[in-house]
Amino acid sequence: MLTPKLQDALNAQINAEFWSAYLYLAMSMHFKAEGRDGVANWFKIQFQEEQAHAEIFMNYVNQRGGRVVLAPIDAVPTTWESPLAAFEATLEHEQKVTALINSLFATAEAEHDYATRDRLAWFVSEQVEEEDNCRQLIDKFKLIGDNGMGLYMLDQELGQRTYTAPSILSTE
Ligand code: FEO
Repeated sequence: MLTPKLQDALNAQINAEFWSAYLYLAMSMHFKAEGRDGVANWFKIQFQEEQAHAEIFMNYVNQRGGRVVLAPIDAVPTTWESPLAAFEATLEHEQKVTALINSLFATAEAEHDYATRDRLAWFVSEQVEEEDNCRQLIDKFKLIGDNGMGLYMLDQELGQRTYTAPSILSTE
């Protein structure tokens, strides 16, 4: 059984993952309206990834005989000045998520719940990847600046991103 403290912390993380999903869906809708279809696609995939993160946590709480409690999702911003601004906001947000995961990991250790700690290890690695992807895109947008052809090419590249469900979900 999960301790009440850990169950509450996992439920808070489920809410944070859904908030992230909602944030990236808002970014996707904003850039779709702006005619930046590639950027919109990238954030739509990011939205799907965050939903998968929430699902992994929900499955895990259920597997441990706990109770998932879905709290309201706070409002998210609705507009961004540019794709670069959105990716900078994304990196800043993901750094906060990394801190949340690290704090959950510390709680699991303090509660001597090593199964939860092991499940969180997947998220620790996932956060390294998420921050790195974001940093690389920020660098690309900075390099391109206002170059129209460069922006067009990068939008095409972001439009190629496809969704693959994390393998951890298919093994549950
Ligand atoms: Fe669920 Fe982007 O971390």
